[in-house]
Amino acid sequence: MEQNQRLRILAVETSCDETAAAVVRKETHEQFVTIERSIVASQISLHQKYGGVYPEVASREHIKQILPVISEALDLPLQTKGRLPDFKLHDIDALAVTHGPGLIGSLLIGTQTLSSMSLATNTPLIAINHLAGHVYASFIKTEATYTTPQFPLIALIVSGGHTMLLHMSDHHHYQLLGQTRDDAVGEAFDKVAKLLALPYPGGPHVSKLALKGNRDTYRFPIGLEREETLDFSFSGLKTAVLREIKQPMTAKVKADIAASFERAAIEALLYKTAKALDQFPVKHFILGGGVAANTYLRQRLATLLEYRTPAVSLHVPPTHLCTDNAAVIGAAAAFGPVQPTNPSDLITYARLPLTSH
Ligand code: KG4
Ligand code: ZN
Repeated sequence: MEQNQRLRILAVETSCDETAAAVVRKETHEQFVTIERSIVASQISLHQKYGGVYPEVASREHIKQILPVISEALDLPLQTKGRLPDFKLHDIDALAVTHGPGLIGSLLIGTQTLSSMSLATNTPLIAINHLAGHVYASFIKTEATYTTPQFPLIALIVSGGHTMLLHMSDHHHYQLLGQTRDDAVGEAFDKVAKLLALPYPGGPHVSKLALKGNRDTYRFPIGLEREETLDFSFSGLKTAVLREIKQPMTAKVKADIAASFERAAIEALLYKTAKALDQFPVKHFILGGGVAANTYLRQRLATLLEYRTPAVSLHVPPTHLCTDNAAVIGAAAAFGPVQPTNPSDLITYARLPLTSH
């Protein structure tokens, strides 16, 4: 694939409640990718009445959305309802698809569709771990001020399903430094949002409400604060918030709970980040995953690095590349040595550790 001057990839992501397709491009000599098109069909409004993702509803919606979204990413008109237009993938060098972790029924819609396209067009198919996508969001150039992360680096990946610190010595060489022992940080945001009667997904709503509150009103626990480990824990924090929920709550009390919770959750991330940087002196740090869209985290992390480790460059993607999308899956596929998979051997996994290639 790499003998061309450039690599053009069609990527698809359907691991949870977003049906997404993107075309990304990487020039052989560049250490970043650019996005030609990125389409995300969000199902948030469908799941809101359930207060979370309803897996069966998610799969059905992916079935409805997948072909229109791919057509739009390829800039092709959908001529017949439910069918891809006649297409030739002569300008696409590879297909990339998320094959885990995530909801099996949702993942299967993406993997089955791209396996079929790969077989029909004889285009190589690359299976990508969703978490690698969150890492590689930082390898997408979106603005003139962009700088490429260099190895070795540390990545903090914070999403609705995962919270992990990784050390990377090269592309797709992952060493897990620490991860959550119970809830993911995004899950904690979503659960606290429910306790405060805020809509799903809770993270952005808690964050917005927190701006009106006092972060010092409640002294919520910082998970594993006194332990040497680089692991995280957020279940105690969630339980501590639950203990303060007494109906009816005034708007002020709700805002103070949101603000104090957000502070404790972000402190836990910063505390282990500082420890990881002490133990692994790197020059580059990547932040990724849905919770990386959180303004308070972005600001506090920037301040922490500025004062503690000013030589470390912080790479934070724009917020639309933090939450789930397909461009980041394409970016992960663009950096070898992830080998193409035989479409008929492609396996989908609900749980999938991030392993090195
Ligand atoms: O990466 P992502 O889009 O999906 C998963 O892979 O899980 O992350 C979704 C998570 C949800 O828990 C959502 O509440 C959280 O990211 N999130 C936020 C913010 N935006 C999204 N959490 C805190 N503050 C935000 N601004
Ligand atoms: Zn994600």
